[in-house]
Amino acid sequence: MINIAIDGPSGSGKSTLAKALAKKFGFSYVDTGAMYRTIGLYILRTGTDPHDEAVVTARLPEIKMDIEFADGVQHMFLCGEDVTGLIRTSEIADYASATSKMGAVRAFLLDVQRDMAKKNNVIMDGRDIGTVILPDADVKFFMTASDEARAVRRQAELEEKGEKVTVEEVRKALSARDEQDRTRNIAPAVPAEDAIMLDNSGSFEETLDRAVKIIESRIK
Ligand code: DC
Repeated sequence: MINIAIDGPSGSGKSTLAKALAKKFGFSYVDTGAMYRTIGLYILRTGTDPHDEAVVTARLPEIKMDIEFADGVQHMFLCGEDVTGLIRTSEIADYASATSKMGAVRAFLLDVQRDMAKKNNVIMDGRDIGTVILPDADVKFFMTASDEARAVRRQAELEEKGEKVTVEEVRKALSARDEQDRTRNIAPAVPAEDAIMLDNSGSFEETLDRAVKIIESRIK
């Protein structure tokens, strides 16, 4: 199977690139952030303190998470309910960031993610795909973009979903979550040694073009 890893901070454009590459090469796009967000939603709904590692860990066996693909879109199910449209808020992002630094939460998702990559040609995006989940991926990208570009992108996404926030508020929230993700003890969100850095501060078409050429040169 062919496995392509895309890591990088929020708003760097990982999912846009991953979707475009998945379409171009006919691979499945696997969004691992959505899995952490689904756990975050459960923790929020149960009124659990997302920083209380013992309680969050104890609740994990209650979570029945299913992932289905329909028309190339990954749907997340939480205890039978399709929650795909509910997990893209900043509140859920905060819960996902807080709980994703816990070892038991990461272990809960590790096998699911590896198993998907073993059975399918995947473009998988997240924070630790190239470093931990798929260390032998055929191509590893680490995307970056300026703080301003990332905040502008994420604000537009949130606004589209009806969340009223300013670019400055989004910039602050993104940088707090990134700091938490980058400095955690387990699977910190840093580039793999053999990752190819992709700066997506400018034109997306150029980034896509570069990524396509790199993949084509590596995969015969
Ligand atoms: O990519 P995203 O914004 O949907 O991710 C939500 C949170 O989940 C983010 O704070 C980092 C965490 N995450 C992670 O720790 N590891 C991954 N592979 C994907 C996401």
